[in-house]
Amino acid sequence: MSIRLVEETTPSQRRGSSPVQPRFDLTLSENPFPPLPSVLRAVNSVLAQANRYPEFLPRRLPKLIAHHLGLHSDQVVVGSGATGVAMQIIQSLMRPGAGMVYATPTFDGYPIMAEMAGVEVVPVPLDSAGNQDLWAMTRAIDKRTGLVVVCRPHNPTGTVVSASELKAFLGAVPARVPVILDEAYVEFLGAAEYIDPLALLSKHPNLLVLRTFSKAYGLAGLRIGYAFGRPEMMARVRRLQLPFGVSSAAVAAVSASYAAEPELAMRTMRITAARESLRNALRRCGIAVPLSHANFLYLPGPGVATALRRAGIAAKAYPDGSARISVGDPEADHAVLQALETLR
Ligand SMILES: Cc1ncc(COP(=O)(O)O)c(C=O)c1O
Repeated sequence: MSIRLVEETTPSQRRGSSPVQPRFDLTLSENPFPPLPSVLRAVNSVLAQANRYPEFLPRRLPKLIAHHLGLHSDQVVVGSGATGVAMQIIQSLMRPGAGMVYATPTFDGYPIMAEMAGVEVVPVPLDSAGNQDLWAMTRAIDKRTGLVVVCRPHNPTGTVVSASELKAFLGAVPARVPVILDEAYVEFLGAAEYIDPLALLSKHPNLLVLRTFSKAYGLAGLRIGYAFGRPEMMARVRRLQLPFGVSSAAVAAVSASYAAEPELAMRTMRITAARESLRNALRRCGIAVPLSHANFLYLPGPGVATALRRAGIAAKAYPDGSARISVGDPEADHAVLQALETLR
């Protein structure tokens, strides 16, 4: 399948214009598409008033998001990307020295935030298929555990724990331990993998679902993320809401993005189609790329990150030489294939 980003330049191409930069930067699982014109117009119109502060504590954005998801505003906390909200969750729900259980490797932000907050990390290795080992994670929970994180899809492998496993896991986590279900890439899930978070919340008051506008919505630079859960839990997290911490542009961007859902869904489909064709091609070259449900691929094996770097492709590199690349930019995808074709 041939995929073209018509009349659009991608972040990787723009960054690639400088001789000191790699040709393609695929490190951060970004969306290759720039913001939709309608979203840009909405943001621009708000920027004309950038001399004014945004709301002291954000009310409009939680309301907008809650309305979209069928929640009450008091169930939503917004912040500076999912990272900002996760930090707020850690600081508001955990005591220094408490343990944070997560699968490793994971989103780099978790160990970094744990260190910033003075909490202990309890990393649990993935199983051999690149899945989070939920049973091992359950066994890692003890009386010092203050937070558990499950990513669905998982970063960096793109794998998805099954609905039944997740439900059994949530049932096994003590009710006093908060669980972040990190759904940063949820929009890339197929219908068969999607789980209704409201059904999970009705059973598990300790659950917080974390999402972002950085990935499928392509607004990483605007830093908009949110979490939702039971009102009592979210009230605890909201206590650390930074005054003036969410820009007025965020409300405009989210509102325009919700109005453009069909266009955004088309982009998501193009990214997932590109991901599948690249994965199939790489597997034909002998690279055991796991099935991904996100906008990136995990490329296991020694030498992969080096081969990409030599070809001018920046990827997220792992200690064993494996790499994670964002997908969906046809030129970059082609360059990845060329760089790795002869590796095995
Ligand atoms: C699993 C996961 N969670 C959270 C984030 C944070 O996203 P942001 O802070 O841009 O919203 C990322 C970013 O890569 C991620 O991969």
